Amino acid sequence: TTSDAGLDAILDRVETGLADDLVPVEIFNDEAVFRAEIDRIFTNNWVFVAHESEIPNPGDFVQRRIGVDPVIVTRDGKGGINVLSNYCRHRGTQVCQTDSGNSRFFKCPYHGWTYNNQGQLVGTPHLQDAYGVRLDPDDWSLMRAPRVDTRQGFVFASLNPDVPTLDEYLGGAGWMLDLIAGLHPKGMRVAGPPDRYKVKADWKTAAENFSGDVYHLDVLHWGTEEIHVSQGLQASCEIGRRYEFGNGHNFTGHAWTKAIHPGYVLWGYPPEITQHFDLSGLDEAQLHVVNHEPPTVGTIFPNLSFIRFNTPAVPGGPMSVVTSFRQWQPVGPGEIELWSWQFVWDFMTEEEVEEHYVTGEFVFGSAGIFEQDDTVAWEGIPRAAASPWLRKAGMQFNFQQGRNSEVDQSPDPTWTGPGLRRNTGYGEHVQLAFYRHWLEVMRGAAAPTSPTEGN
Ligand code: FES
Ligand code: FE
Repeated sequence: TTSDAGLDAILDRVETGLADDLVPVEIFNDEAVFRAEIDRIFTNNWVFVAHESEIPNPGDFVQRRIGVDPVIVTRDGKGGINVLSNYCRHRGTQVCQTDSGNSRFFKCPYHGWTYNNQGQLVGTPHLQDAYGVRLDPDDWSLMRAPRVDTRQGFVFASLNPDVPTLDEYLGGAGWMLDLIAGLHPKGMRVAGPPDRYKVKADWKTAAENFSGDVYHLDVLHWGTEEIHVSQGLQASCEIGRRYEFGNGHNFTGHAWTKAIHPGYVLWGYPPEITQHFDLSGLDEAQLHVVNHEPPTVGTIFPNLSFIRFNTPAVPGGPMSVVTSFRQWQPVGPGEIELWSWQFVWDFMTEEEVEEHYVTGEFVFGSAGIFEQDDTVAWEGIPRAAASPWLRKAGMQFNFQQGRNSEVDQSPDPTWTGPGLRRNTGYGEHVQLAFYRHWLEVMRGAAAPTSPTEGN
């Protein structure tokens, strides 16, 4: 662990390291770094809190987190979405003690102050004798996130009022979200509550991996290919497509038409599903991407990631296309709670939902075979980051892949979509873009950043 005084020295080392495509080990397990991340990243800009399909009806609520702060996300009687602090204004007890439910009111279990689902203080026990006058709700209501907005049903909130609009913040990541979840007018919905479990890994490792660590696929996950749950893993670097959208948002796709078969379009969705799709709202670049080189993974900064790929629930079984959104909830230095949701299309039959949910859990649920591969590898990193030996030696991790490679990793000059695209899965550009943005925000940059060509 490091003192606050040491934080600036660490950030200086990150800056020097990044100039050479290196990242110092200590940022993956450090008290001062963690506290600054919560302060400068998680409580200072847009963070995903829920999907609208989790709170469809008036009174519905889910308990979530922004950084390490518990919040209640509610659907009020007017259909509005509220993101409320889950700390009572009287002494701070949590007014909501369950993960989800339906209620018009939240009554604090300690002394009974009662708030409606817009957070207003509406009840105070023994009001007349205890206080004499009504407590002004303007002064004593639950704290509210000052900015709340949605894209494709994904609800984001910012505790800092002074941020760009959500659409501006998302930029090209919003464009990508539209082509992932907007292929039907009713969009996608969650198939159930999120899986939640603790992993002794740093949130940045998971966010970096889901930006597009294509390099690990045919090593760490090779067992999935051997049992015929994956296909084309060995080609995945060669056919990778990387997208940098600025603001720390990065995605990676694959030209599976080249590796699997030419008829492989739309993530391999079967006709029973694709017959419902309406692609008419997509621009030309989006159409090309969804058909031939669909996004496989992506991270919306700081901690919302996505994965969609084609897989059977059991080796040799029928193929499903699973869609999982996952959130790397920071718990402490080098520790997260991993939250993951399976998403399904609103038009799916109950049987299709069941099949997609089970398949999704098989690969990317809390006991998923890919998930277990990844989390075991990720847990090694905070241990390395806490190593007295490595710290003393000034150890830095290598992000220099591709510096001398002859594979063309330069931005595609013909790309007409937002941000920039590279037509290879080699190189670690998206990971570096993630850490460069992280450094800017940790240095206190307020304005959104745009994609740069990096190295
Ligand atoms: Fe909530 Fe006292 S702490 S009413
Ligand atoms: Fe993985």
